Amino acid sequence: MRIFCPRTVRQLPKIVSSCPHSPHTFLRIRAKPQHYRPVSTSASTNLNSDPICKGKVGASSLAGKKCLVTGASRGIGKAIAERFAKQGARCVLVGRSHATLEGVRGELECFDGKSHDIVVGDVGDAKFWEGFRRVRDIDILVNAAGVTHHSPCVLTSENVIEEVLRTNLLGTMLGCRTVGKGMMANRDGCIINVASLLGLKGGRGSAAYVASKAGVIGFTRALAAELGEKQVRVNVILPGYIETDMTAGMAPEARSAALNAIPLKHFGQASDIADAAEFLATNKYANNCVLNLDGGLSAT
Ligand SMILES: NC(=O)c1ccc[n+]([C@@H]2O[C@H](COP(=O)([O-])OP(=O)(O)OC[C@H]3O[C@@H](n4cnc5c(N)ncnc54)[C@H](OP(=O)(O)O)[C@@H]3O)[C@@H](O)[C@H]2O)c1
Repeated sequence: MRIFCPRTVRQLPKIVSSCPHSPHTFLRIRAKPQHYRPVSTSASTNLNSDPICKGKVGASSLAGKKCLVTGASRGIGKAIAERFAKQGARCVLVGRSHATLEGVRGELECFDGKSHDIVVGDVGDAKFWEGFRRVRDIDILVNAAGVTHHSPCVLTSENVIEEVLRTNLLGTMLGCRTVGKGMMANRDGCIINVASLLGLKGGRGSAAYVASKAGVIGFTRALAAELGEKQVRVNVILPGYIETDMTAGMAPEARSAALNAIPLKHFGQASDIADAAEFLATNKYANNCVLNLDGGLSAT
């Protein structure tokens, strides 16, 4: 089920519920998807009286910004959404599992007492992005949703190739195309795509994934030129090996070979990628950055 915020609050039933992670009450609106609209809730919460959330909100240039993060249910996307929320931004969390996103939303709402939005859907589906067609208030778009697959290219089925390209490359392109329009109209905005070091380096057994990520890097560069003229910055992060669900299933031999090849001899954390995302979101001269965070793997 998708959760969208309606055109006007009056049109649809309201369900007031309690955040499981904080004592704050917030407004949650369930509706049939039309166009995604933000709900402005005036959260009259006093964070300093909340022993759990006390002191977690930092004042930064992300305060008051609205960020749409795909792949926000887990791993890198979740870490970026958490970081942005801690810096005072409001987030729109995108993923395919409503239950998982609800959990993330609960955690985020501890940081600022504001409501964050959830949109459930498949980023590789053009119809999903239709719901955002008229949205004009997203300041930062992070495309972190992604899937991987391991098998030699000649043994990889057409369906798998299609799914990987559709999610990683098409999903990113559709998101940028849809949300970028509003940013261009505002003459302000920042897009952060999450590709992979493999998109530059290649590697055995990941041809579809590598092709999708190489596509994201090339696409980002093209877009940085197109949208830069409208004061919209477009950048891409190239993680190496990061400890998330995506790498948790690696065979022990593959993991130890990877560790051996990384000069720093350890995998990165999702928070390391959030550091890079925060930098790209706040540095006003960052456009067309291709920022690798790989513990030095790209040097070997
Ligand atoms: N971990 C690494 O070592 C590493 C290295 C280089 C690049 N990356 C890239 O970093 C990004 C995040 O990876 P991760 O490690 O955080 O992976 P992860 O833990 O597996 O999380 C993947 C995220 O993408 C979402 N997702 C997948 N397919 C989707 C779809 N069709 N529509 C909407 N959401 C979808 C998942 O949400 P649901 O499953 O809940 O829908 C989940 O939130 C990916 O693009 C990945 O390629 C990761």
